[in-house]
Amino acid sequence: MTGVTATTESHTTETQTSETAAVSIRGLSKVFGDRAVIDGLDLDIRPGEFVALLGRSGCGKSTLLRILAGLDSEIDGLATVPRRRAVAFQAPRLMPWKRVWHNVVLGLPGRPDRALAQRYLDEVGLSAKTTVWPKTLSGGEAQRVSLARALVREPELLLLDEPFGALDALTRVKAQQLVADLWARHRCAVLLVTHDVEEALLLADRVLVMDGGVIAHEVTVALPRPRPIDHPTLVRLRTELLGRLGIVEPDRHASVD
Ligand SMILES: Nc1ncnc2c1ncn2[C@@H]1O[C@H](COP(=O)(O)OP(=O)(O)OP(=O)(O)O)[C@@H](O)[C@H]1O
Ligand SMILES: [Mg+2]
Repeated sequence: MTGVTATTESHTTETQTSETAAVSIRGLSKVFGDRAVIDGLDLDIRPGEFVALLGRSGCGKSTLLRILAGLDSEIDGLATVPRRRAVAFQAPRLMPWKRVWHNVVLGLPGRPDRALAQRYLDEVGLSAKTTVWPKTLSGGEAQRVSLARALVREPELLLLDEPFGALDALTRVKAQQLVADLWARHRCAVLLVTHDVEEALLLADRVLVMDGGVIAHEVTVALPRPRPIDHPTLVRLRTELLGRLGIVEPDRHASVD
């Protein structure tokens, strides 16, 4: 392992967010067996910036997120992240034996604060579900609890690993809008892993493509929100990103006779 400095025993440095960077990664590598899944990756994320991360299955997106979340410290290289950060995964991972409000504040220091949990459940539109058990929630509701649980930590960096992946199309659109609203209000830096190119283009300031263990491509989406998905710039970026992902779209103008 090379020069990874740390304020804790971990190999990821935690800092107060600086003026210029919420996340700073230099030469990050992660090896499983004899395969470098992450291989000299560099990345900066500005405070308050919304970044989406695309990439083929198995390219290392979740591995990168886990490192930034502090869940994997066996790395080479330098990764600087804010101390206040939170993560939401594709599966909401709620504790079935704790009521919804208790899940939201689970792990916070001090006595479980129901009023605090309530505030964040209100924010995600779940005021009516405060005292129910997680097993009585729909998939979309459980995912919103997971978002409330992340936001209650007032993160400077919010890490989202395919948080809408398991939702049906309509619930997914609503969840995307909710994330857009929450981000506009909280203005934390976000790193969203997704397989959905349109989702990335609708939500993010910048879209990255991970390949070969590095950030192989990136596009900036300099359009005001909300964004119409048929905006010519988005259509062009979509084609560019799909190409980078190795997905060839059927030619819409091809004759079908
Ligand atoms: N604990 C582990 N031990 C060994 N190999 C692992 C481990 N975790 C992940 N890998 C491997 O590292 C590679 C990257 O995994 P990762 O979960 O980061 O991919 P991903 O880009 O998130 O994929 P997906 O889009 O399918 O979620 C995969 O080949 C995976 O099998
Ligand atoms: Mg993954």
